[in-house]
Amino acid sequence: IASEGGRLHVTLSAAAGRVTIAGRSVQAMSYNGSVPGPTLRLRPGDRVTLDLVNRLGASTNLHTHGLHVSAERNGDNPFLHIRDGETFRYEYEIPRDHPAGTFWYHPHLHGTVADQLFAGLMGAIVVQRDDSVPLPAQRERVLVITDTTLNGDRIAQANQRGRMLGREGELVLVNGRLKPTMTVSPGGYEHWHIINACTSRFMRLRLEGAELLQVAGDTGRLATPTQVDNILLATGNRAELLVRIPGPGRHQLVAEPVDRGGMGMGLGRGNAGGDTPATLLQVEAAGEAAATPQLPGRLVEPEDLRAVAVNGRRTLTFAMEMGRGMGGGMSFTIDGKEFDPDRVDAAVRLDTVEEWTVRNTSPMNHPFHLHVWPVQLVARDGSPVEGNPQWYDVVILPARSSVTVRVRFTDFPGRTVYHCHILDHEDLGMMGVVEAL
Ligand code: C2O
Ligand code: CU
Ligand code: CU
Repeated sequence: IASEGGRLHVTLSAAAGRVTIAGRSVQAMSYNGSVPGPTLRLRPGDRVTLDLVNRLGASTNLHTHGLHVSAERNGDNPFLHIRDGETFRYEYEIPRDHPAGTFWYHPHLHGTVADQLFAGLMGAIVVQRDDSVPLPAQRERVLVITDTTLNGDRIAQANQRGRMLGREGELVLVNGRLKPTMTVSPGGYEHWHIINACTSRFMRLRLEGAELLQVAGDTGRLATPTQVDNILLATGNRAELLVRIPGPGRHQLVAEPVDRGGMGMGLGRGNAGGDTPATLLQVEAAGEAAATPQLPGRLVEPEDLRAVAVNGRRTLTFAMEMGRGMGGGMSFTIDGKEFDPDRVDAAVRLDTVEEWTVRNTSPMNHPFHLHVWPVQLVARDGSPVEGNPQWYDVVILPARSSVTVRVRFTDFPGRTVYHCHILDHEDLGMMGVVEAL
C-alpha cells in the first residue's frame, strides 16, 4: 500500500480469526487478514491517515516502530487504549527530512504487546526518498521475520517461565511462510529489507555463498555499502542488504541462535528456541549470471553526535530481581521501578543532545529501545565506539554491562516511552516514560 501525491489513507482491520501461517489455517490475529499485515510505503512529507479497526475481542493500539513522528494525541501514541469494536483514526506527518529506511508497525498496549505480536499482528513500513543514491538492484524485497508456536490450530500461550525468559517460537517464518523458496538471478544484486519482528528472539543471519553488503540499519542508510559475513539482529532491529549470488546454485538463509543470557540462579537461559539454526529461506539462483553492477561509494553523510557538545547526561539501570513484581516471580525494572504511564521518568528539553548510559545489572541481554528519536551508539562498557557513526533505535545491552548512546531530541514535544524490546519484558514492566518539552 503506497502513498500517492503526498497522501495515504489506509484502513488496518485488526481481527481475531482464521489466517494462513506456515501454510496452515490457524486461529490467530492479523491486520487485513494476513500475517504479516500489508507493507506501507511512504515518502517524506506524506500525510497519513490510518483507521485502525479493532475486532480482536480485546483492547489494542498501534505503534510505528522507528518512524520519527509525533507521539502526541492521535500520532504514534503508546498510551492509547482502543477498545474492541472501536475504530481509531491515527494521523501521521512524515517530516521532509525523514531518512529513507525500513520500519515496522505492531501493537503497543502495555501488558499485551508480546501476546498480540506473537499472535500475528505486525507489518512492514518502507520510507523511500527520491533523492537517495540509487542502488544497483534488480529487485527489492521485504522480509518480515517472525516466530511463533502452534498448538493444534491455535497460537500457543506463553507460560510464566517463557515470559520471564522472553518467549521464542518453534517456527521461524519469513513473511508468514516456513522455509519458502525464492528464485534470484545470479550475478546481480537484490535489495533486501529485513525486519526482526520476533517477540523476543535475537538472530544471526547467514547466507553462505552470497556476497552481502549492508546498506542500511535501523534508522536509514549507512555511510557506505559495508561488506558483512553475517548480520546480528535483536528483536526490533532492521537491516537492508545488497545480496549477490555469483552463479547458479542453491543456498540457505539461516538464522543462528544467539545466546542472550539467562535468569541466573539456575533458572534457565534465554534461548527458549533452542540451539539449532533455523533455515529461513531456500534461495535458488537460476539462469545466466548477469554482470556485477558498479556500487555507489557514499550513500549518505550520517551525522556524528560524538563531535557535538552534550547538554545533559543521565544513567538508566535495567535490572531483574527475584521475589518482587508480578506474582512474586521476577521483577523487570528500570531504575528500580516498573512501568507507570502516569509517571515521567526522564524529562528532556527539545533541541538538546543528551548522553544516556544504560546499565544492565542482570545476567540477561536487554535490547534498549527508544521511540521517536534515533540514538547513536558512542560507547560500549565505557570504551568509545570508533569508525562510522552507528545509528539505531534498538541497541543490544549485554548482560552485566552498559552502553552509552547520544540522542538529539528534535521536533516533537510530548510523552513517549523507552523499553526493553524483549516484548515479554516490556509487558512485565521494563519500560519508562520520556517527556520532551
Ligand atoms: Cu517495537 Cu516500543 O516498540
Ligand atoms: Cu518502537
Ligand atoms: Cu529485557
